[in-house]
Amino acid sequence: MKQMIYRSQPFGFDQAMLAGILSQARLNNPRDDITGALVCRHDLYLQLIEGPAAAIDALYARIRIDDRHGDVRLLLMDEVDERMFPDWAMLHDEPSSQFWAPGEVAAGALDTASPATLRAAFRSLTEHVQE
Ligand SMILES: Cc1cc2nc3c(=O)[nH]c(=O)nc-3n(C[C@H](O)[C@H](O)[C@H](O)COP(=O)(O)O)c2cc1C
Repeated sequence: MKQMIYRSQPFGFDQAMLAGILSQARLNNPRDDITGALVCRHDLYLQLIEGPAAAIDALYARIRIDDRHGDVRLLLMDEVDERMFPDWAMLHDEPSSQFWAPGEVAAGALDTASPATLRAAFRSLTEHVQE
C-alpha cells in the first residue's frame, strides 16, 4: 500500500471550499479504497493519503491540477503495511494547534521535516480525535 504526504497553499480558503473538498473526498475515497487526513488552515493544506498505489497515484494527479490550491509539494511517499487512518475516508482537522505555526511553515519547517516527524504529527491527530 502507498502512503503519501503533501502540502499546498490554499487559494481563497473558506468554509464552502473546504466543504466541497471534503464531500468529494468522502464520496470518492471509499470507492477507491483510500483513507487519510487533511489539515486545513488559511495558510496551509497538509494531507496524508494512503491506499492501493494506482489509486493514490490517480488521486494525487487530480489533486495536483486542482485550482483550489497551488504550490503542491510532495513531502513523503512510501510503501506501508498498515494504514494510519483505517477508519476515516478523510479525517479533517480544524486549525490545529499541535501542528507547525504559520510562521514556521512560512520559514520552511515542513520542507525540512523528516518522514518520522511528519508521520508523528499525523499520528497525533488520531489520538486527538479518538477521545
Ligand atoms: C487540498 C485538497 C484535498 C483533496 N483531497 C481529495 C481526496 O482526498 N479525495 C478526492 O477524491 N478528491 C480530493 N480533492 C479533490 C480533487 O482534487 C478532485 O477535484 C476530485 O477528486 C475530482 O473528483 P470528481 O471528478 O469525482 O469530482 C482534494 C482537493 C484539494 C484541493
